[in-house]
Amino acid sequence: MCHDCGAGAVSQQASRRSFTRFLAAGAGLTVLAACTPEAPVAVAPSSSSPVPTITSEYTTPSAAAVQSTTAAVEPTASAPAPASAAASLPGQFSLTDPASPWVVVNKQRPLAPADYAPADLVQPSVRLAVSGESALLNSTTAAAAEAMFAAAVRDGVAMVLASGYRSYGTQVMTYNGYVAARGQADADTASARPGYSEHQTGWAFDLADGGGACGFQPCFADQPAAVWAKANGHLFGFVVRYPWMFHPITGYYYEPWHLRYIGAEAATDMANRGIRTLEEYFGVGAAAGYV
Ligand code: DAL
Ligand code: ZN
Repeated sequence: MCHDCGAGAVSQQASRRSFTRFLAAGAGLTVLAACTPEAPVAVAPSSSSPVPTITSEYTTPSAAAVQSTTAAVEPTASAPAPASAAASLPGQFSLTDPASPWVVVNKQRPLAPADYAPADLVQPSVRLAVSGESALLNSTTAAAAEAMFAAAVRDGVAMVLASGYRSYGTQVMTYNGYVAARGQADADTASARPGYSEHQTGWAFDLADGGGACGFQPCFADQPAAVWAKANGHLFGFVVRYPWMFHPITGYYYEPWHLRYIGAEAATDMANRGIRTLEEYFGVGAAAGYV
């Protein structure tokens, strides 16, 4: 399916091109690096993949929650979704603890605490387009990314990590940059406000293609890295967090580059059921706008 044919995509793409030009101006950097202001931090070596600490708000199993959806038709944001479909899985993780792989962070669900920082940030052994803080992920996501990048390479597809962890302070700069370039209303369709970004959890990162084409643009969806990640990412625990035309639910326009780790079991379950958003899968409600 072509993801770049609609009027919304054209508008979205034009807006992003304008903004990436703004960010890249004078920086002498690639668009990829220019999109993610950095703050240098100590980099720890990637090591094991500890099981995340789970402490609060577990999903509640319900019979209605386990109804499946069909993947035969491309789902849309208007399609009904089961509430808390994840309840069918044996393992239950917190939806609020930022250290949980199932934490749902969106415009209705800010991080608590707002300045949360993962305790286990590491630099994955993958191709990097960034350095310092932006090259970090939490240790579980780092290990999963290493496995996924290696598998992609075995299939002849090169991937690059374009933006990983962002501290609260970095997100302040990132968001303010969007607001300055595009105004707050438009910024809010593409950049999370500080304390509301998955990047701050270490569970998410932005992917770039080995060839560098279409960085942070909707046309990235057609690049080999994105095509491969969309088809296979669930096997490594990743979902494309902001799918095409689901912005009424996720609160953000299409980001084929933004991958979120939730674990292979849940990600594969979502793929098998054709459920596209964490909001629908975990039954937490849509988050089109801020509280
Ligand atoms: N671009 C995503 C929504 C973020 O800023 O976290
Ligand atoms: Zn992202």
